[in-house]
Amino acid sequence: MSAHTDGPRTVTIRPDGVEIVARERETIVDALRRQGLRTRYKCRRGGCGACRAILVEGEVIYPKPVSEKVIEGPRPRPDVRNCLPCRATPVTDLVIELGPRDRIVNVLTGLDTARPNTITARQTPSTSSTRKEQSCP
Ligand code: FES
Repeated sequence: MSAHTDGPRTVTIRPDGVEIVARERETIVDALRRQGLRTRYKCRRGGCGACRAILVEGEVIYPKPVSEKVIEGPRPRPDVRNCLPCRATPVTDLVIELGPRDRIVNVLTGLDTARPNTITARQTPSTSSTRKEQSCP
């Protein structure tokens, strides 16, 4: 069975609930970057595991080879599927969950005053850059 990446796919990123669109053959990290967002990553080659996230729903492929050991991480759990967003290309719509110390950062706006440079729950990238009312003197 061959996997297809035809068309854009929606990627929902927990715990913030941010939704992004990944273009055909685009990795999750590249899709985030294109939309001004960042999550934790280092090598972007599938070698370090810094970007590892839980694959809650959906399927991904790795057009370039990555190690199963890097995907699984140091403490593999049979009940949890992981993915490497720096190399993973969505085949279906996805839901992924970031690690407990990871978060989404909006590098374009940084306008969230409650958590600077962070997207709040249920915000989409297009709304995150909208500055709310400003008082004028
Ligand atoms: S950033 Fe190194 S494996 Fe993804």
